[in-house]
Amino acid sequence: MSHKRFAKILVFDSGVGGLSILQSVRQQFPDCTLFYGSDNAAFPYGTKAEAELIERVDDVLHQLQKTTQADIIIIACNTASTVALPRIRGRFSQPVIGVVPAIKPAAKISQTKTIGLLATPGTVKRDYTEKLIKEFATHCHIIRVGSNELVHLVEKKLRGETIDPSQLKPIVYPFTECLDIDTIVLACTHFPLLKQELQQTLPAITYWVDSGEAIARRTGYWLDQLKLRPLDMTEQSCDLMKNSGPVSSVAFFTRQDKNLAALKTTLQQLSIPNIAILNK
Ligand code: DGL
Repeated sequence: MSHKRFAKILVFDSGVGGLSILQSVRQQFPDCTLFYGSDNAAFPYGTKAEAELIERVDDVLHQLQKTTQADIIIIACNTASTVALPRIRGRFSQPVIGVVPAIKPAAKISQTKTIGLLATPGTVKRDYTEKLIKEFATHCHIIRVGSNELVHLVEKKLRGETIDPSQLKPIVYPFTECLDIDTIVLACTHFPLLKQELQQTLPAITYWVDSGEAIARRTGYWLDQLKLRPLDMTEQSCDLMKNSGPVSSVAFFTRQDKNLAALKTTLQQLSIPNIAILNK
């Protein structure tokens, strides 16, 4: 299999949460061009009505795709994926990877079969989430916590603010009330970015399950299918790379606001040197 050119991957979320997914993809595929799309104008998604959300995600993704011409689209948002995936998949010719609650691996790994589901208010009440539970976790007791406040705390953290773990206690208290719980599914892409603070707040939890690695694996599958992965560094492919290096990575936002400057350091750490406002 020969490498045609560098792949372009679009990672999309309402806010900064999708960066947890982008980080896993970046680790696996350091040479890809990564475009990050944040719909900060409509943030947060977790409290929006389903019909409104489907229209919004469809609209913004089309605008992003027009600008980026990405080879693979990742909806790095459980709230959006659990409601809009079928519609979006039918509207793009490129592969669309969705991020949905990792109920299946959590049900497998939990010893006590008592699992906490930590997501946005939208995701915890979705039919899609219920279907996943029915399919993979009928033998488990699931404790659901939907929090919008936690999403906002992650946004603050990535702008450089320190989050005191004591702020998390009143949010995650249903998990502390159940002694059997040993596993928590981080079913919002924002939450892995607050894992340290969550671990400090809930020291009794053994397994923290998120979707980052699974999505990076799925991305690898599609890179292979599209023949966009440099599988071997033969002389020929090295030459090819020299001639057509990756396009510089860019983070797009749907609204200019004063918080974007504070995100620059985080984005640079993820090898995204450029910020742009999406022309709609
Ligand atoms: N990061 C998103 C998710 O995975 C949602 C955050 C929001 O409410 O906008 O669900």
